[in-house]
Amino acid sequence: MSVGRAVAGRPADPRRGRWRRVAPLASAVLVALLAGCGPLSPLDPQSEPARRISVLWWVMLAVAGVVFAGACVMLVAGWIRRREWGLPVLGERPRLLDGSVVAFGIVIPVITLVALFAWANVGIVQETDSPPPDAGMKIEVTGSQWWWQVRYPGTPAVTANEIHIPARTPVTIVTEAEDVIHSFWIPRLNRKVDSLPGHANRVELFAERPGVYRGSCAEFCGQQHARMGVSVRADPPERFRAWLASMSAPRPAPATPLARRGEQVFMSKQCASCHTIRGTPARGEVGPDLTHLKTRATLAALTIPNRRGYLAGWVVDPQAVKEGAKMPALDLTGPELQALLEYLESLR
Ligand code: CUA
Repeated sequence: MSVGRAVAGRPADPRRGRWRRVAPLASAVLVALLAGCGPLSPLDPQSEPARRISVLWWVMLAVAGVVFAGACVMLVAGWIRRREWGLPVLGERPRLLDGSVVAFGIVIPVITLVALFAWANVGIVQETDSPPPDAGMKIEVTGSQWWWQVRYPGTPAVTANEIHIPARTPVTIVTEAEDVIHSFWIPRLNRKVDSLPGHANRVELFAERPGVYRGSCAEFCGQQHARMGVSVRADPPERFRAWLASMSAPRPAPATPLARRGEQVFMSKQCASCHTIRGTPARGEVGPDLTHLKTRATLAALTIPNRRGYLAGWVVDPQAVKEGAKMPALDLTGPELQALLEYLESLR
């Protein structure tokens, strides 16, 4: 017989019932606390604008905390002294509406809110908002349902979802959208900026140290909004320049018979009408540029790792991975799939 279970004639442990009531609240508090952590946290700033935003957040929290504590104290004081004050009677001026209410209910909130508004707008938002015009290098990022195209003006390099930048260098992201409104957001580097169809917005990224900074679409844009991830990889400038040079090159020619067969499959199936592979006739613009696909760590906008098994699953049944994505399932034979995978994996 299990020791912990309630049996006939013996009541269940009351502590367990109490825990059952408390557990949902405890989990909610834990989730709320953890939500501020992790790679998408604006509270782990790695650049000056992100630092200003995090200071703004902490100051707002501190002020709101003091106001909340003050309101609680007044509430408790009112409850304790309720007999002495009595209930307000109609036609009689209630004693509660005297000096303390005017001070704490009107004067102090007005001063606090005006001060916070002025400080946040003049000191934080405007500074964060205005990168020096065309500072440093420019990268064009276009949001589509549900991925990001990344272009490096002045070079043929085009990639998707994983943006490379040089560390300790001002980079201006110029962002637009292809279809609906998206929002480009790398929380540890800077604020959100809307990606709009037909209008370019800018945001400066300056990574103080090399690293990978996770980001996300921050504007609900349809079914797979949550799977519209983006990342920024900041490398030492010389490594970034080498990367950009290799990205600018056309695809490496397939080296094995199987990969050559895979390229034929790619060109003869629907792939080539949606994707570009520079150095081949494939010029599609619907999906990401695949010229150097294998250099990316993830597929489908950071949804799955870029490894052969996942790639196979994505090619065979994309809707199972990301329902609603424009990628159609390909009707491939086993040998065609093997050849296609071999080819895609050779795109370094
Ligand atoms: Cu794009 Cu949400």
